[in-house]
Amino acid sequence: MIKKILIVLLVILVTIQFIHPKKNQSAGEQPNAIAKAYPVPQEVTDILKVSCNDCHSNNTHYPWYNNIQPVAWWMNNHVNGGKKELNFDEFTSYTPQRAHHKLDDLIDEVKEGGMPLPSYTWIHKNAILSEAQKSTLINWAQSVMDSIASKYNLPEEEDQKERP
Ligand code: HEC
Repeated sequence: MIKKILIVLLVILVTIQFIHPKKNQSAGEQPNAIAKAYPVPQEVTDILKVSCNDCHSNNTHYPWYNNIQPVAWWMNNHVNGGKKELNFDEFTSYTPQRAHHKLDDLIDEVKEGGMPLPSYTWIHKNAILSEAQKSTLINWAQSVMDSIASKYNLPEEEDQKERP
């Protein structure tokens, strides 16, 4: 009985190796990238590239083990979930309110250590943000928020007022 179950499991495991989710890769210019509309200093670009873009851009850098199922499904979930919430390559297509709000979320996440996802930093140790990198990201996000708010005349958000 156990032998039969093991064989069935093995067959399933082998079969799923042939099924792959579509990769998050899109070559060339990203016309809606955040840098098209707002200044993104090189320092910030570098941080986003190492720590965030695998799940928040149109291009994921895949490790070799993404070729193994069900790992690919699990990663695909993170990439899709992350992109849905915030995609730096689609940022200029957001309404000013949404863009402003996403940066506010970014500041909270970075402050609280919620991003990058812990399951990501277990493996990508270099993606862990230092205190200096956190400040760089937070200050940059705040400055982009300020320019969105003044450009589009947004009312001050409640949570923004609360922040010291
Ligand atoms: C391994 C993939 C992954 C990485 C790397 C990652 N994120 Fe995320 N991010 C997600 C997922 C999945 C979600 C949506 C679910 C959630 O909020 O946990 C998300 C949600 C978010 C949100 C929206 C949260 C909210 O409150 O609505 C922000 C902002 C964010 N991420 C910022 C970042 C920043 C900044 C970095 C880099 C410092 C980063 N993320 C790195 C996967 C990732």
